[in-house]
Amino acid sequence: MSDTSNPKTTRRDFLYYATAGTGAVAGGAAIWPLVNQMNPSADVQALSSIEVDVSGVEPGTQITVKWLGKPVFIRRRTPEEIEEARKVDIDDLLDSEARNDNLGAEAIALDQNRSLDQEGTWLVMMGVCTHLGCVPLGDGAGEFGGWFCPCHGSHYDTSGRIRKGPAPENLQIPVAAFVNDTTLKLG
Ligand code: FES
Repeated sequence: MSDTSNPKTTRRDFLYYATAGTGAVAGGAAIWPLVNQMNPSADVQALSSIEVDVSGVEPGTQITVKWLGKPVFIRRRTPEEIEEARKVDIDDLLDSEARNDNLGAEAIALDQNRSLDQEGTWLVMMGVCTHLGCVPLGDGAGEFGGWFCPCHGSHYDTSGRIRKGPAPENLQIPVAAFVNDTTLKLG
């Protein structure tokens, strides 16, 4: 006799992961032509730094690139997203540290300490939930209009700061800089 409980469990798990993975696939799909174009024969995972053409990223959209084997979100924010991020009182944050590899460990989680440029247009973050490492969904997801991790319900704001749920830290910001107007270097 077969165990009828196993197929149910398997199907539920499959649906769960299929749903959780949809955002990552959709987010990552747009960037592969760019990465492949820049590194036609390279194993992107092995590169300690990569350059990304962001000229096609429209305001209010983001791309996801794979760097050191992990997803990196590159978002071009709208003025509304920037305003939303900058009006938050630091005392309302669950994690008061900027988590920005471009700054010292003492930097606090003001949006100005997390955006790549002073105006706040570009936000570059590791796409790895600080709870257990799932890839959060973006494009205004979650209760704070930023990113939402469906694995256990962590909500991040438009600055990628944890605002609700089990994740203990803001999304990490990697070493990043513009090398010219349209090219971003990670690492
Ligand atoms: S891994 Fe994101 S909430 Fe648990």
